[in-house]
Amino acid sequence: MSAPLHVFAWHRQSAHAAMLADVCRGLRRQPKKQSSKYFYDALGSELFERICEQPEYYLTRAELELMHAHVADMATVLGPDALLVEYGSGSAIKTRLLLGHLHRPVAYVPVEVSPAALADSLARLAPAFPRIEMLPLCADFTTEIRLPVPARRERRTIVYFPGSTLGNFDTPEAVQLLQRMRAQIGADGAALIGIDLKKDRVEIEAAYNDAAGVTAEFTLNMLARFNRELGADFDLAQFRHRARYNVLAGRIETHIVSCRAQEVNIGDARFAFAADEAMLVEYSCKYSPEEFARLAARAGLHVERAWTDARARFSVQCLRAS
Ligand code: AVI
Repeated sequence: MSAPLHVFAWHRQSAHAAMLADVCRGLRRQPKKQSSKYFYDALGSELFERICEQPEYYLTRAELELMHAHVADMATVLGPDALLVEYGSGSAIKTRLLLGHLHRPVAYVPVEVSPAALADSLARLAPAFPRIEMLPLCADFTTEIRLPVPARRERRTIVYFPGSTLGNFDTPEAVQLLQRMRAQIGADGAALIGIDLKKDRVEIEAAYNDAAGVTAEFTLNMLARFNRELGADFDLAQFRHRARYNVLAGRIETHIVSCRAQEVNIGDARFAFAADEAMLVEYSCKYSPEEFARLAARAGLHVERAWTDARARFSVQCLRAS
């Protein structure tokens, strides 16, 4: 039985109210701050796909290179008859590679908040793997989730979190997310996590400041989204993208910077920006292998194996409960 239409309308309204309250809270903070999750509306997701194709954005190519080189080894380390749970909606080639090499996977569970992204990923993957049960879960993986039960019983649960998305969480959030993974994988499972590694500052900064300006467009689309969805009146020409590598903290810090003193309205609320005032919109943390092992240990996990690309720019880490 499906939910009546007014239930969907109610969910949409409450999601809208929650976003409005959260964005206004972020604008009232000193310094101003927004969650990077607001990048990903339909246009933002398309722009992110384009970022991955930019010559400066080495992350995607390095991860793919290492997956091609080591996926068979990963499958052996992970073990047979697994329930594969992916945080996010299926990263096309990487997920295909993993599903294609795992030994007799029981089912695939993509966990994703956007129903459209979830449907897209299933449309891509289900025809390629007709013998693997597809169990999409429309949920926010940063919250408590209950995994679906597959028809054939799994021997282990594997959480797959590629793309260095863990790097978009600050340390306490990353530890909390790793703790959730630990609870999901239990004693027999594993987490397979893509992590961008520390390297030359120039190479990292270039990846977040591509010459074609796609990352800048992606960043400013957050304001365009607030205009479209919340009725805000950000003048996009009066804000700019800034991404700098903070060497001490080991992370790219992306800000939206106000080009002049100005005011912005959202409904009845008005927010003032000073000239050059910066609003934090994203961290992209980079780790050394030792730092990542220490982070994992704080969540009760240890690194069983780690693979890197030939130039050691990116790593995929296999974690197990300690
Ligand atoms: C999704 N995430 C891992 C990307 C990153 O590299 O932090 C998002 C991104 N932001 C700007 N460019 C890419």
